[in-house]
Amino acid sequence: MSTQLKGGPPPRVTTRTIVDMKARGEKIAMLTAYDFTMSRILDSAGIDILLVGDSAGNVMMGHETTLPVTMDQMVFMTSTVVRGAARCLVVADLPFMAYQVTAEEALRNAGRLMQEAGAHAVKLEGGSTVAHTVRKIVDAGIPVMGHLGLTPQSIYKFGTYKVRATDPDEAGQLIADARLLQEAGCFAVVLEKIPQALAAQVTAALSIPTIGIGAGPACDGQVLVMHDMLGLTKDFKPRFIRRYLELHESIGSAVGRYVADVRSGGFPSAEESYDR
Ligand code: KIV
Repeated sequence: MSTQLKGGPPPRVTTRTIVDMKARGEKIAMLTAYDFTMSRILDSAGIDILLVGDSAGNVMMGHETTLPVTMDQMVFMTSTVVRGAARCLVVADLPFMAYQVTAEEALRNAGRLMQEAGAHAVKLEGGSTVAHTVRKIVDAGIPVMGHLGLTPQSIYKFGTYKVRATDPDEAGQLIADARLLQEAGCFAVVLEKIPQALAAQVTAALSIPTIGIGAGPACDGQVLVMHDMLGLTKDFKPRFIRRYLELHESIGSAVGRYVADVRSGGFPSAEESYDR
């Protein structure tokens, strides 16, 4: 029986919903978000999952990589996104060094994202090396999303942002890692920047959903960094990004008109001013 009140908020998307969507062949739409206002807009527009990604290091903080992002920053951003999200599932990234040292530390940090920030699940990068950690976190009741392929926290190890797993050895390892993550209890896996045929193979091999970014159309869902799909970023244009807006241009032009209005005395008008 549903406990939802008439006219109340829509039912929350859960990890169960996400897994069931794959079983029904329904595609999953995910975007990143880092603050309350955008979270509210994206949630109202019908997004299934909001990821508070450590890509915040790039698009919100201006770092070259995601490595400088801290747990305290993730807790803060996640808490703002959670307050804006009435319907969707909110997944928070465990940042670099929050889960690599020990499984105990990883569990403590995952717990902070759930308890202090109100996240509904956490995400971490890697395969066989993190499977034990995933199991520990899931056993504590915290849902985990995996992340394979181009994992940005390992960018200095890779030395390049090129497509991953193009050779048979790395492709085989990725399939094995995806299976391990599913066995360890992950409810979904992000596949980043890998050949589409490999993503299709992984998607067919798993009962949990794959969410692709630069991994082709066969994935069970897609994710983009919100700043890229809205065109807030200007010069970052890998082929997997589809820009639905060119916001850097619209915002630049709006601010230009505002500056001109202020300088000319055209803003504020009589209607925009108080008599008492
Ligand atoms: O941090 C992030 O935004 C991500 C997505 C690119 C999947 O991990």
